[in-house]
Amino acid sequence: MSVLGIDLGTSGCKTVLVSRTGAILATATAEYPLSTPKPLWSEQDPHHWWKGLVESVKAVLAKCPGETIEGIGIGGQMHGATLLDKNDQVLRPAILWNDGRCEAECAELHQRVPSLIKETGNRALVGFTAPKLLWVQKHEPKVWKQVRTVLLPKDYLRFRLTGEKVAEMSDGAGMLLMDVAHRRWSKKVLKAVGIDESFLGRLIEGTEISGRVTEAAAKELGIPVGVPVVGGAGDQAAGAVGAGCTKPGQVTIAIGTSGVVFATTKGYAPDKLGRVHSFCHALPGTWHQMGVMLSAAGSMQWYRDTFFPGADFGDLVAEAAQAPIGAEGLTFLPYLTGERTPLCDAKARGAFIGLTRLHTRAHLTRAVLEGICAGLTDSLALIRASGTIVKEATATGGATRSDLWMQILADLGNVTIVLREGADAGPALGGARLALIGACGVKPTVACAPGKVVKTFKPSAKAVKAYAPVKARFAALYPAIQAYCHRL
Ligand code: XUL
Repeated sequence: MSVLGIDLGTSGCKTVLVSRTGAILATATAEYPLSTPKPLWSEQDPHHWWKGLVESVKAVLAKCPGETIEGIGIGGQMHGATLLDKNDQVLRPAILWNDGRCEAECAELHQRVPSLIKETGNRALVGFTAPKLLWVQKHEPKVWKQVRTVLLPKDYLRFRLTGEKVAEMSDGAGMLLMDVAHRRWSKKVLKAVGIDESFLGRLIEGTEISGRVTEAAAKELGIPVGVPVVGGAGDQAAGAVGAGCTKPGQVTIAIGTSGVVFATTKGYAPDKLGRVHSFCHALPGTWHQMGVMLSAAGSMQWYRDTFFPGADFGDLVAEAAQAPIGAEGLTFLPYLTGERTPLCDAKARGAFIGLTRLHTRAHLTRAVLEGICAGLTDSLALIRASGTIVKEATATGGATRSDLWMQILADLGNVTIVLREGADAGPALGGARLALIGACGVKPTVACAPGKVVKTFKPSAKAVKAYAPVKARFAALYPAIQAYCHRL
């Protein structure tokens, strides 16, 4: 007896098979391409997602023959616009979360709905779904005329699995079409965007059953007809469920290509200026805030590949310990792909400032690590400023392999960083946990229990003090170069 958890990622679809007791029995990933037909564009063919799901599900089932599947939970990349016509055929490639084409439409949306932040808890960002719809209306009117359904990426997979058009709260919140406080579609925003509620799926909670696997899907996947599929969650909420972050004050910091500071809040707690995202969490009646940095470990990857190709990450990062706190006046801004939190500025650019002949590779690397952690700390500060007390955060992602990196994060953020068993299993495990709750009746407190702490990094009072001027330098730098970035 087990469940399937699925993570529809940007580079591939990951499936995990999880036992009723929450143990991961098998994992498989199937990759698919990402297309950038024009600068700033980022698209994917939804048929590739389905192929990835079928391949990865079949691969995990082959590893554990004879397992009975009792439920399925899907997590996935958020914000993407999947457009279907009246016959439920895909009209154009899906426009993804990391697409930057619709800056003008974001401004337009704020003009059309001056109370947008109050209405949705968020401000319009190029990554979100609603401005993408305005873009298609304006630039591809022939396509727009045929649109009858708008689904988020994981909800398109659900449609293929169950035939049901359903949206779910945590992911729906990232469409910028929801009244997040009341967990319903916002009539005001739908009107301003020019779409009818019938275009969007029925809105449900992450643990609710959305539908059952159809005969056609069952045949293709090799699972029984009628397996229940729960609401699931957007990948960040699903990842938080996987890491056991579901109670107010619990925080995760995920450092992958992007960096996400995710805090479960006490009720709905938006930032007045919309600098951090305020979304529904995956469990009924819960909300979260999230700061998203677009290039976290992505900055480190760029730095290594550009300046020291072939260098071992571990060696490079360890060497940074030879440079002192603050890298002797060298500051790195990690805005290589613009920035969401806290700048909300697609035109922001990265920088190394303060270089002298004294600086070595160790200083450069330390500045990159400090810049990434300072960016994450900005999100943490906004979350704290809106009333959430954050003393401890569970870190996940590749960066957790470096003690130095984790200590810099603890000291700059003045927060205890813990690493937990199983926390890296991510959104796929979160999806499986939601299926355990919704399809198998496992208690949320049992299904979502955080893993055992395996390592702790406490902030040192001396280092926190030493970082104060480094933080001030970092904070002052972008305002000083913003006009330059906007002229580029
Ligand atoms: C969250 C976000 C990304 C995508 C892709 O707001 O944009 O996490 O969901 O992973």
